[in-house]
Amino acid sequence: MNKQEFDILVIGSGIAGLSFALEMADSATVMVVTKKDKAESATNYAQGGIAAAIGNDDSIDLHIKDTLVTGAGLCKDAAVRAVATEGPDRIRRLIEWGAEFTEEHGNLSLGREGGHSANRIVHKADYTGREVEHALLEALKNHPQVELWENALAVDLVTDRHLVSASRPKSRTVYGAYVYNQETGRVDLIQGHITLLASGGMGCVWTNTTNPSIATGDGVAMAWRAGARIANLEFMQFHPTALYDPRRDVDGRAFLITEAVRGFGGILLNHRHERFMEGQHPLKELAPRDVVARAIDSERKKWGLEHVWLDVTHLDSDELRNRFPMIFETLMAEHDIDFTCQLIPVVPAAHYQCGGVVTDMHSRSTLDRLFAAGEVAHTGLHGANRLASNSLLEAVVFSHRAADEAKKLLEECRTESMPDIPEWNDSGTYDPEEWVLIRHDRREIQVLMEDYVGIVRSDLRLQRAARRLATIAAEVEDYWRRTTVSPDLVELRNLAQVARMIVKCARQRKESRGLHYTTDFPRIDNILGARDTVI
Ligand code: FAD
Ligand code: SIN
Repeated sequence: MNKQEFDILVIGSGIAGLSFALEMADSATVMVVTKKDKAESATNYAQGGIAAAIGNDDSIDLHIKDTLVTGAGLCKDAAVRAVATEGPDRIRRLIEWGAEFTEEHGNLSLGREGGHSANRIVHKADYTGREVEHALLEALKNHPQVELWENALAVDLVTDRHLVSASRPKSRTVYGAYVYNQETGRVDLIQGHITLLASGGMGCVWTNTTNPSIATGDGVAMAWRAGARIANLEFMQFHPTALYDPRRDVDGRAFLITEAVRGFGGILLNHRHERFMEGQHPLKELAPRDVVARAIDSERKKWGLEHVWLDVTHLDSDELRNRFPMIFETLMAEHDIDFTCQLIPVVPAAHYQCGGVVTDMHSRSTLDRLFAAGEVAHTGLHGANRLASNSLLEAVVFSHRAADEAKKLLEECRTESMPDIPEWNDSGTYDPEEWVLIRHDRREIQVLMEDYVGIVRSDLRLQRAARRLATIAAEVEDYWRRTTVSPDLVELRNLAQVARMIVKCARQRKESRGLHYTTDFPRIDNILGARDTVI
C-alpha cells in the first residue's frame, strides 16, 4: 500500500475544498483528493450565482431576513448572521483569487432569484460556477505546498478504530482517509493531521437530478460510518426548472434552467398555457423553491403532464441571449429549442441537500480533527429550505472559518506523531458479474426514491421505501464483504446508506415544513417540529 502524510487532507475539489486549500496553502502541506477530473463538481455547473448583500438598496439584515423566512423556522441564527455578514468579504476574496464576475457600469451586476427581496446575486452571465471553479484551480496551480490528486476516490475515513496500537483515546479522532487509486486499482492511505470533507451533495440518490454524477453522498456516508452526527436529510431541495428531456441518459444530469431566468421575467405555464403560479403565492414564479416545485408537481398530477412550460418569449431576445448565453447555446445545439421564440419544457429535479454532517460555527464536525464545509455540511444556515444562491456563499464562508480554526489546531497536532495505521484489508475476490448487480441496485434505489421520497411524501410511501432499502442495503453489504473494492461498489454502498438515512429523517418529521411535505401531516407543527432531525 502506498502511504503518504500531509498536514491537511481535503476530500473534494469544488468551491469548499479548493477555497479551503488556498487558505491553508501558505501554512501547511495540503493534499486534495478528488474522485474524477479536478473540475467535475456541482460548483462547476452553478449558473445563477452567489448571493451577497452588496447592492445600494440591500442590507445584511435584509439578506438575513430572507434566509430566515425561506428556512421556515429551522435556520440557526448564528450561521445565518455569519454568512450574510461575511459574504461581501468572501466575494472580494474570490475576485482577488481571479474570479471575474459580470459588471454593469463599473459595478458588479446583481441578479434576482426566488425568495430574495433585493437584487443580490453576483454572477458571471449564466456560468458562474465554471468561472469560480476555473479561477480557484488556476490560483492553486503550481502552489508548492499543495498536491491535487485526480481520480482518487476516498473510501473511508481513518479513525481510532483502525489504529494498531492498543491504547485508544475516548473521543473519536480522524487521521485521514483510505483512498482508492484508480491507476493501480489499490487502496492507499493518506494521513492528515486534519481532514476537511468537501465532497458535495447527494442528488444522484434520485433518478432526476441537476447534480453531476459525483454527487453520491460519499461524505455523509463516510462521516456516518466513522460515527459523526448527521442532520436534516429530509430537506432535499427540488429545483423547479430542470429541462424535461425524455432522451436523457439514466445517469446523466438534468440540464438546469437557472432561476435567474424567472428572475429576469420568465413565467410558468401549464399545457393550457395558463399561468398557474398566479394566486399560489404573492411572488408567483419567484416564490421560494419548495412552493414553486410543489405547484408544478400538483399541476402535473392534476392533468397527467410530463412537464410544464417555462416561457420567456415575451422578453427582449437580444437581452435574453446576452444574459443567458450558455443556456441559449445548449438549448439550441443539443435540444433544438430557441428559447427566444419557443417554450422550454421543464420539470423539478433533486438539486441541493440542506442537511448533512453536523458542524459548528468553525466547521468542526462532532469528530475530532474532522471538518466539513460546502454542501456536505449541515451548518444550520438553510434550515428547512435553502434560499437560492446561498450555498456557494455558505461554502466560502465556512471554508474560511474552517481554515482559521485549522491553523490553530495544526500547531497542536504537529507536536504529536502520526499514529500507526494498518493497510486497507482488500481480501475479497473480483467478480465481473457483480457489475450487473451494482447497476440494478443503483437504479432501484434511484427509482424508489423518486417515486416514494420525492416532493410530496406520505407515511405509507416512506414505510415502503424503508423496507425496500433495508433489503438492498443488506445485499450491498454482502457484496462489500465478499468482493474487492471498486468505485461503482463504493458509490452504491454510499447511495444505499444515505438513502436509508434520508428516509429515516423523513419518517421522524411528523409535520410539513419547508422542503419536507407529507400528506399525513400537511401542516407545520411549531411545538414538536421546530428542531433538527439528528441521526
Ligand atoms: P462540489 O462542488 O459538488 O464538489 C464536491 C467535490 O468532491 C467534487 O470534486 C467531487 O469529485 C469530490 N468528491 C465527492 N466524493 C468524493 C470521494 N469519495 N472522494 C474524493 N472526492 C470526492 N448554488 C449557488 O449558491 N448558486 C448557484 O447558482 C447554484 N447553481 C447550481 C446549479 C447546478 C446545476 C447545481 C447542481 C448546483 C447549483 N448550486 C448553486 C449548488 C452549488 O453548486 C453546490 O451546493 C456547491 O457547488 C457545492 O460545493 P462543494 O464544494 O460543497 O461541492
Ligand atoms: C439556479 O441558478 O437557479 C440555481 C441557484 C441555486 O441553486 O442556488
